[in-house]
Amino acid sequence: MATIGAISNHSMKNLFTLAGVMGWPVAHSRSPLIHNHWISQYNLNGAYGLFAVEPCNLKAALHGLQALGLAGCNITIPHKVSAMEFVDWIHPLAKRIGAINTVVVQSDGALHGFNHDGFGFIQSLIEAQPTWKANQGPIVVIGAGGASRAIIVGLLDAGATAIRVVNRTFSKAQDLAHDFGPEVISVAWSDREDALVGASLLVNTTNQGMHGEPALDLSLDLLPNDALVSDAVYIPLETPLLKQARLRGNTTVNGLGMLLHQARPAFNSWFGVMPEVTPELYEKIIKTI
Ligand code: ATR
Repeated sequence: MATIGAISNHSMKNLFTLAGVMGWPVAHSRSPLIHNHWISQYNLNGAYGLFAVEPCNLKAALHGLQALGLAGCNITIPHKVSAMEFVDWIHPLAKRIGAINTVVVQSDGALHGFNHDGFGFIQSLIEAQPTWKANQGPIVVIGAGGASRAIIVGLLDAGATAIRVVNRTFSKAQDLAHDFGPEVISVAWSDREDALVGASLLVNTTNQGMHGEPALDLSLDLLPNDALVSDAVYIPLETPLLKQARLRGNTTVNGLGMLLHQARPAFNSWFGVMPEVTPELYEKIIKTI
């Protein structure tokens, strides 16, 4: 039997494609809702489940993918970095980020690791502002953790030429500037408001403003009114940062678009269809927030 594009051997053999997300804890993940929505929208034969995998079981769980005939899985907190050790090949983009969020089982059983978080972020910006370009002015990124690394790699690949990374722990911002080259400069936390002068895009990648956390301590007074303001947080949908930005006239982008768009290439590699992010899908997820 011939295989079509990215549809893996196992799905042709089993005629039922299985995937899921590994995390610990993982019960809160919206990924099953997203992928199962697409499975039904495109009339596919398959399912996407939750796998609560303790860190000590990660290696066995990943190796079990092939044995169980799964197409692959998403990887979420706390496994995004440690999972790199247990796959056979890592996409160069994921290597630059230093983490994987997707595993695809190959026809020979090999595990390939990818990271689509940067793609998801860029797509969410384009969805909010179709004319957006990465090189239209300096970009300020708040935070220097895993989400920041994925977003910075996405921005650089989209053509960003000036990224100012601000982080509470300055040494981590310096590490990013060192890793990613001259387009990325580090800014001390005390200078975070001055860093907004002339910026075309502001991105919060910290957990500040998330449900249960205090608001990000940042006044937007020096930010141009035409700058785009984005937050990787999606619970709540409008963080205090986004509210502050909206009230002064900036276009805002919440973190839900990044979550939805990062799922698209993973779905494509398992199910052979590049799915769309539709208003119905947004509605379905927003109802759970
Ligand atoms: P993620 O993978 O979601 O990026 P992470 O790697 O733990 O998570 O990174 C969390 C980021 O939020 C870091 O940049 C962290 O700053 P530090 O490097 O100084 O820890 C930032 N962060 C967390 N709490 C913060 C706070 N109260 N104020 C400012 N930044 C904070």
